[in-house]
Amino acid sequence: MEPKDIIAQLSALKEQFESGLVQVTDEQAIRAHQAAFLGAKGAVTTLSRMIKDVPPEARPEVGRVFNAAKKEISAAVAAAIEQSRLAREQQDLTQHVDLTLPGRIPQGIGQLHPLTIVMYDIVDIFTAMGFDVATGPEIETDYYNFEALNFPPLHPARDMQDTLFIKEGHTLLRTHTSPVQIRTMLSRPLPIQIIAPGAVYRRDDDPTHSPMFVQIEGLLVDQGVSFGHLKGVLEAFLNEVFGEDVALRLRPSFFPFTEPSAEVDIQCISCRGSGCRLCSQTGWLEILGCGMVDPNVLEGVGIDPERYTGFAFGLGIDRIAMLRYEGITSIKLFYENDPRFLSCFTR
Ligand code: FA5
Repeated sequence: MEPKDIIAQLSALKEQFESGLVQVTDEQAIRAHQAAFLGAKGAVTTLSRMIKDVPPEARPEVGRVFNAAKKEISAAVAAAIEQSRLAREQQDLTQHVDLTLPGRIPQGIGQLHPLTIVMYDIVDIFTAMGFDVATGPEIETDYYNFEALNFPPLHPARDMQDTLFIKEGHTLLRTHTSPVQIRTMLSRPLPIQIIAPGAVYRRDDDPTHSPMFVQIEGLLVDQGVSFGHLKGVLEAFLNEVFGEDVALRLRPSFFPFTEPSAEVDIQCISCRGSGCRLCSQTGWLEILGCGMVDPNVLEGVGIDPERYTGFAFGLGIDRIAMLRYEGITSIKLFYENDPRFLSCFTR
């Protein structure tokens, strides 16, 4: 056989191999295509067996051409396999679930509870007036919740706030934030000017009374503090919350720990005083209790009532929130935690 004939057949096979290679994409098919040319029974292998029929002096050169062709075929196969692997990887990336992606259902970031919003707003108003924020425990002793606040044992005033006892006569869920007055006067130096927001508990349950609700206590003790200061602070606060034009009135009242004591009403923000369902036709809404700190209470915590006087007040945040967000007919809505209700409020 002539060397040029066998080399021509080899290059025809190479062309055949190359045009076939571009048609196969997966690794298995590429390897099968390689075997069809370089395998034991492959076309190139079969042709190479004819080298022995070439004149002896031309065989080394023909052998080199065959070796070079086999190397080129092997290199093209390796490159095709690599490309197929990359293409498969790319496909995997686009088809697989990426667990780091956000879900399809929109996820809100949550928001403040309406009572928290009202509480923050009230705290802002009082801190702007120079009040500091104090706190106390929700599980209290009889001493801080009643005794130190001038409620003598068995005194009927204890029934004013029907109590949830943990241990009868000893530990209880605080019925008001007033025990923070005592804790503060026992632990801070004079003068004292604090507010104390927090949850309180009572055996109460109707559309405007909840067994758990939130109060803010206020206490100011210094030399020369008068009822006029109390009225000024409360007026400034209520005007800030309900507007400059809202009228307020102080009614004489009774709390064992203040003397004199008063209850503060604001003119009904719904009917502006003419009488409606919200204000039970009275034209007024009760907002808070207040008074001058009773000298007995001051003495009990070691403060000389001849030198120092103080005022205190306690308001229900729930009540303020119900008035501020008109249309809330039951206090229970604040505690049911229905997201449809809670999502209506922003600060
Ligand atoms: C007190 O709790 C006194 N400690 C307030 C006080 C503090 C007086 C300092 C003087 C000096 P009273 O029981 O009236 O007072 O409650 C105060 C406010 O809490 C009420 O005006 C009302 O707004 C709110 N409140 C009372 N009970 C409930 C309840 N069950 N649910 C929601 N709010 C309530």
